[in-house]
Amino acid sequence: MKNKSVFVCQNCGFKSPKWLGRCSSCNSWNSFLEELVAKKNTQTTPKNTPEIYKLSEIREIENIRVLTQDNELNRVLGGGIVPGSVILLGGEPGIGKSTILLQLALNNQINTIYVSGEESLIQIKLRANRLNISNEITGFVNETDVDNIIELALKEDPGILIIDSIQTLKFAGEESSAGTITQIRECSQKLIDYAKSSGCCVFLIGHINKEGYIAGPKVLEHMVDTVLYFEGDKFYSYRILRSIKNRFGSVAEIGIYEMNSGGLIPVDNPSEILLTQREHQVSGISIASILEGARPIMIEIQALVSTSAYGNPQRTATGFDSKRLSMLLAVLEKKCDFKMGLQDVFLNIAGGLKILDPSADLAVLAAIISSYQDSSINNKTTFAGEAGLSGEIRAVDAIEKRISEAEKLGFEKVYVSGFNKKNISKKYNIEIAYVNSIHDLVKEIA
Ligand code: TYD
Ligand code: MG
Repeated sequence: MKNKSVFVCQNCGFKSPKWLGRCSSCNSWNSFLEELVAKKNTQTTPKNTPEIYKLSEIREIENIRVLTQDNELNRVLGGGIVPGSVILLGGEPGIGKSTILLQLALNNQINTIYVSGEESLIQIKLRANRLNISNEITGFVNETDVDNIIELALKEDPGILIIDSIQTLKFAGEESSAGTITQIRECSQKLIDYAKSSGCCVFLIGHINKEGYIAGPKVLEHMVDTVLYFEGDKFYSYRILRSIKNRFGSVAEIGIYEMNSGGLIPVDNPSEILLTQREHQVSGISIASILEGARPIMIEIQALVSTSAYGNPQRTATGFDSKRLSMLLAVLEKKCDFKMGLQDVFLNIAGGLKILDPSADLAVLAAIISSYQDSSINNKTTFAGEAGLSGEIRAVDAIEKRISEAEKLGFEKVYVSGFNKKNISKKYNIEIAYVNSIHDLVKEIA
C-alpha cells in the first residue's frame, strides 16, 4: 500500500496536506517539511473505563531520591534523581552534554544503559579513557529505533536510561526521517510512558536549534518532568547547568562546572574562580555579590566608558541585559549629570557568566562610574543592591547570606541599600556601608 505524505510545520506541529510557505497556525515562514505517514493500525482496542479515586484513596508515593556522585547535578535536580522521571538536557553542540552524562553513567554504581545514536561505541570508549573512568555495570548500545530501545530496557530494567540524542531516534510507525517534530514527539512520548510505568529515570539529550529550542518551541519541554540547559561560552571553560522547569524541585538552582582535559569538574566554590587575580587596582572593575539559586556568588564586573568617536555612542553588554544597562545609564545621566550620551559603554561579566539577578545593578553602576572617572575601586569591596528608575537603591533578598560570603572570602567592605538595614541583625567582621541612592554611591566612590 502506498504511504500518504503530509506536510508538518517543524515549529508547531501543524499538519497540512500541501506545502505552505507560511504556517497558518503559528505564522512561521518556510517551516513545512514533508513527512510520510504509515497506514495506521485500525484495530480497535477494547475501551477501559477509568477508575475514580477520592483524595483519601490516593496512595502517596514517597519522595525517594537517588543521590549521584555529582553534587552540582543533585542540587540542580532538587536533591537527586527522582525514579520514573524524564529529564531533558538541552544545549548547543560541543558544550559537554555527552560528557556530563557519560560521567553520570560511569561514576555511579547505578545500573545504567547509555544509548548512543550519534557516536560509535569506540568513540564513547575513547571519551571514557580520556575521562579516566570506568565501571562494569553500565551498558552501552548503538541503537536508534525507539521500540527496540524500550524492549531492551524492559528486559534489563536499568535505574537510569540515557538517550544520546533524542534527535537521532526513530519510531518505525512513522516513515518520516529522524529529527522531525513528529518523530521527536512520538519517540519522547514512548520513553515517557516507559519511565512512568517502570520507575526508570530517563535522560534525553537534545540539541538546540538556532532559535534555542530542542524541537518546535516548547513541544518537548511540556512533555517531560524536568528541563535542564547546559550553557557556557565556547571561549571559557565554565559550564552552567540551569534548570528551566522542574516538577520535583526549584528552578532557581544552577550547577557550575569547569571543562578541562579530564572532563567536567564540579566547582564547589564559584566565587574564587570568578574573581580574576589582580596585582594592582585598575579603574572600571567592581565586584558584585549576586545570588544564583540559594547560593551567593561573587563576580567581577568590568566596564569601559570612553568618549564616542562618532555621533552614535555604542552600548555593548556581555552577560548582562543590554536594556537594563541602558536603563542604568539613563538614570546616571538624569540623576547625577553624567554625560553618558557622549560615551561608548562596554560592560562585561567575568567568566562568561550571564547575570539575571538585578542585585548586580549597584556593582554595574560602580564599575561604570569608576571607569568614567578613571578612579579604581578597592578590590576588597563588594556591592549588592538593585537600582530603581528614580535613582534609589533598593533592598535585595538574602542580604545576610551575601554579607557572610563576602566576609568568608576576605572582603573588607560591602555596599548595600539603606533599606536592607533592618534585615541585618548579626555583627559581621566586615564593614557594611549603606547607600540609599545613586547619588550616595557617586559620593562614596568618587
Ligand atoms: P561533548 O560532551 O561531546 O559535547 P555535546 O555532547 O554537548 O555535543 O563535549 C565536547 C567538547 O568537550 C569537545 O569540544 C571537547 C571537550 N572535552 C574536554 O575539553 N575535555 C574532556 O575531557 C572531554 C571528554 C571533552
Ligand atoms: Mg554529544
